[in-house]
Amino acid sequence: MTVESIFETVATVGSKIQSALGERRSYEEGRNPSGERQLAADVYADDLLGERLLALDSVAAYASEEQETVTESEGGGTYHIACDPLDGSSNLTSNNAMGTIVGVYDQPLPAPGDALVAAAYVLYGPITTMVTASEGETTESLIEDGSRTVLSEDLTISEDPVTYGFGGRIPDWPPAFADYVADIEDDRLKLRYAGAMVADVNQVLTYGGIFGYPMVEGRPEGKLRLQFEGLPMAYIVETAGGASTDGSRSLLETTVSRLHERSPVFLGNGSLVTRLEDAMADWSP
Ligand code: F6P
Ligand code: MN
Repeated sequence: MTVESIFETVATVGSKIQSALGERRSYEEGRNPSGERQLAADVYADDLLGERLLALDSVAAYASEEQETVTESEGGGTYHIACDPLDGSSNLTSNNAMGTIVGVYDQPLPAPGDALVAAAYVLYGPITTMVTASEGETTESLIEDGSRTVLSEDLTISEDPVTYGFGGRIPDWPPAFADYVADIEDDRLKLRYAGAMVADVNQVLTYGGIFGYPMVEGRPEGKLRLQFEGLPMAYIVETAGGASTDGSRSLLETTVSRLHERSPVFLGNGSLVTRLEDAMADWSP
């Protein structure tokens, strides 16, 4: 039940983060290791998650998008946690949805996709929900005052795709990728883009479809970070019956050489992911 205690802690901290957002909308002086400006809410969420997760006996280490290096627990433990404390935090300025992403690895970080044993995200929308994945099961819960009420025991991606959403400026997309998007539009998929990965992925799980942040002109590695964002969300989507790719293979088959390494990330229904891999087969940076 040690993974369960990690999920429980994330639910408790998620509630605290949600209620702290209103007073933490200003920018701090600092930037994170990826060069992004930090809001007071990013720093608050990171501090609280690190403190509460490292206090668990099962947690050996904590790393996050907001810190350069991994923090080891004094007592040791089995699990190495990688977090995006406040995903899509620039949405705090415009009052749009955001999330928290947690990856639970059984190897020291940086760790590859096959070292993931569990993952979770919290979505701060009109309501706060949490999706957890472990041992082949994906569960969606409502979070209220830190306690969880199960909404769906066995969350499965809808088989009839409805939405797509991709980041990056369209003129910066590789032509093969732009052609793929035009192709899936012809299949009557419609655009939905929240600007926060957690919100976009939750939408894809709910309605079916595909979300991604592609390779773009001048940045073939895209924007999203593998360890903190790409891999945990791929683990959740694949556990829910969907698929993931970096453009050529499942994200869960990739290795991570640097903690803050970026990669193109695509998540959604298997049929759409396979078509994307076929469309990008001849592409090289
Ligand atoms: O964490 C990075 C992130 O905020 C994701 O949540 C989101 O998918 C993406 O960046 C949005 O990027 P852009 O502002 O370029 O659309
Ligand atoms: Mn993020």
